[in-house]
Amino acid sequence: MADTTIIQFKDVTKRYDDQTVLDQVSFEIERGKFYTLLGPSGCGKTTILRLIAGFSEATEGDIIFNGKRINDVPANKRQVNTVFQDYALFPHLNVFENIAFGLRIKKVKEAEIAKRVTDALKFVNLSGYEKREITEMSGGQRQRVAIARAIVNEPEVILLDEPLSALDLKLRTEMQYELRDLQRRLGITFIFVTHDQEEALAMSDEIFVLNHGVIQQSGTPTDIYDEPINRFVADFIGESNIIPGRMVEDYRVWFAEKEFECVDRGLELNEPVEIVIRPEDLEITNVTQGKLQVTVDSQLFRGVHYEIACMDEVGNEWLVHSTKKATVGEQIGLTFDPEAIHVMRLNETEEEFDKRLESYDGVL
Ligand SMILES: Nc1ncnc2c1ncn2[C@@H]1O[C@H](COP(=O)(O)OP(=O)(O)O)[C@@H](O)[C@H]1O
Ligand SMILES: [Mg+2]
Repeated sequence: MADTTIIQFKDVTKRYDDQTVLDQVSFEIERGKFYTLLGPSGCGKTTILRLIAGFSEATEGDIIFNGKRINDVPANKRQVNTVFQDYALFPHLNVFENIAFGLRIKKVKEAEIAKRVTDALKFVNLSGYEKREITEMSGGQRQRVAIARAIVNEPEVILLDEPLSALDLKLRTEMQYELRDLQRRLGITFIFVTHDQEEALAMSDEIFVLNHGVIQQSGTPTDIYDEPINRFVADFIGESNIIPGRMVEDYRVWFAEKEFECVDRGLELNEPVEIVIRPEDLEITNVTQGKLQVTVDSQLFRGVHYEIACMDEVGNEWLVHSTKKATVGEQIGLTFDPEAIHVMRLNETEEEFDKRLESYDGVL
């Protein structure tokens, strides 16, 4: 464990009755970074936050904070504050009192409370709102009060459970910038939960992609987008073409009934695989120059690019993002670089996957 590590999960399992909600989850969180837990509803994101906060107990495994096992440390003794999905503000208290609440319980002196609340409000751009009633605040402002209430305790980690999901799209985007900026200014660790992949890609230093209580993949946004480990991740993060195939030999992969050059090696001869090509990595050519021959099924203009759905000769569907326009019904060619093909082994663990990709370094 590096000394920059603030939180570590070691084989943490959480069960309710006989439902396994988290299955041997292990990860490390480094101090001062912005982490995102990303996954569909019900995959276990809130459960992880509750375990870190101390609102729930692990069935098995160790939860380590600053090098110490904290499984038995009560919530109020943990250096962690949570911003809840519904903010959980007190409607009968004004802004100042909402933020001051935790400090009063800790019996912090009045002058100190006033100073810390003022500072926290300044941090979230709400100076002057001390006396406002919560009920008079907009959704975005309530969000900021909830964050101020978390940072006023000067925690080492802030947990944010889908804090932007109640906001409309424009405000949501604004708050994404604000939260990211706030995290940088504070320099403390944020663990942010969302089911929105674009939000995760835009905000995070590091993303953990979860499904069914298992971390599928962890890495930077670009790592995860460029090299998804499996079909779930490829599908969940961005749009993908995922096609069954087989590895012919090193640097040769077969799919759509043809052989293509690729950059992957070290797999078994004839091993069944799935290949991923991102829609923006496909380029439209005339039929004869294409590596694939496809027929255009439909086309939508998306502002920056056209989204073109095609089908190849053996019935695979291909989604293309192109600034070139196509014509529905037309036969076109598609071409792509060997690097655009990402080969996924079936049931590869994250450790095996990382090792394999590392072994390509220097080859690419
Ligand atoms: N207190 C509980 N008792 C029983 N099952 C629960 C409880 N809390 C959560 N679960 C179940 O655990 C799973 C994961 O829930 P949760 O962590 O809230 O998912 P997410 O936040 O990713 O949507 C869900 O299937 C949910 O029904
Ligand atoms: Mg949740």
